[in-house]
Amino acid sequence: MSGPQKNRVMTLEEWENMWQRGMTGFHQSTVYRLLQINIDKVLAGRSGVKFFFPLCGKAVDMKWLADMGHTVVGVEISEKAIREFFEESKMSYSEENVPTIPGAKVFRNAEKTVSIYQCDIYCFSSSLEGQFGAIWDRGALVAINPKDRDKYAALLVSLMAPGCRFLLDTLIYNPEKYSGPPFFVPDEQVRSLFGSSCDIEPLQEEDALTEDFKNWGMDFLREKVHLLVRKS
Ligand SMILES: C[S@@+](CC[C@H](N)C(=O)[O-])C[C@H]1O[C@@H](n2cnc3c(N)ncnc32)[C@H](O)[C@@H]1O
Repeated sequence: MSGPQKNRVMTLEEWENMWQRGMTGFHQSTVYRLLQINIDKVLAGRSGVKFFFPLCGKAVDMKWLADMGHTVVGVEISEKAIREFFEESKMSYSEENVPTIPGAKVFRNAEKTVSIYQCDIYCFSSSLEGQFGAIWDRGALVAINPKDRDKYAALLVSLMAPGCRFLLDTLIYNPEKYSGPPFFVPDEQVRSLFGSSCDIEPLQEEDALTEDFKNWGMDFLREKVHLLVRKS
């Protein structure tokens, strides 16, 4: 990773602070359109798929998938975000400590179709929930600190079961104009991070420049969705 954003660091405390102050403009109150459009490509005819949601926030997509009969495991540092997810989804939930991760908790709905680990993503591993049949990464690779991308990619690959289908959402803009997050993730980097473990298919690209992003100094912003399929 090179370029003007390579040393930018956002701490876990800063993320929690954003949740406490309600600075969560990234949250969408409806199912993410690009997930909805591409869900058939992710499922590939499978039912009862086990999904992983890195840096899940309180994404309503988790409830949408659980309601369709899939199971979801998310990881999120903010306890406030996790409690709001279950409360706003009208799901009763329980919480327990995670013995292998000091300070971490896991929150689960009564049916155990949605589990969210409250911990740093780098503390999560396949020893907790095994491997996954699908991953939805929106606001995750673009949100982690750029210097951690290799570590993040290695973790995600370790969580992919053979044939796992991973829908990845990235943003393309001029990183000289805005410091992030969200961070700029060029296609070459998607290839260098995941190309040796996954076949990568570009699915979609569209203009994503909103007034908010213009106010942050951007003059163009493209959103891209890639399908990564774990090589066997
Ligand atoms: C840009 S938001 C995206 C949330 C969600 N994926 C969505 O699309 O609404 C990034 C989220 O990651 C969480 N986060 C950031 N760094 C984290 C880390 N290292 N481990 C776990 N969660 C983290 C933040 O609290 C925040 O909720």
